[in-house]
Amino acid sequence: MLFGSVLNASVPGVSAESTPDLEARRQAVIDSYRVVCICNKIRRGTIQKAIAAGATSLGDVRRLTRAATGPCKAERCGPRIAEMLVLARASGCGDGAG
Ligand code: FES
Repeated sequence: MLFGSVLNASVPGVSAESTPDLEARRQAVIDSYRVVCICNKIRRGTIQKAIAAGATSLGDVRRLTRAATGPCKAERCGPRIAEMLVLARASGCGDGAG
C-alpha cells in the first residue's frame, strides 16, 4: 500500500527516537484525509485549508469548500466543522492574520 509505505518511510539519518513529533505529524496527515462532509466527500484537510485561508463561519467554509451543502443540510458535518472552527479560533488560526 503506497500511502502506508510513504507514512512509514524513515528519513535517512534521522532515527524515530530523535523525532518525537513524528507520530503526531503522521497522525495529522492521516486525519487530514478523513472525510468530514460525507454528502460531498470533503476531507478534513480541505476544511482546514479553508479555515487557514480565513474562513470563520460555517457559511465561509460552505462557500470555499462546498462542505455542508449536501442533502443532509449539514446535519452530519455541521457540528464537526463548527468544532474545527472553535478549535482554530482558540488556537489563533484562521483569523485571517496568518
Ligand atoms: S455531511 Fe455535509 S452536507 Fe451532509
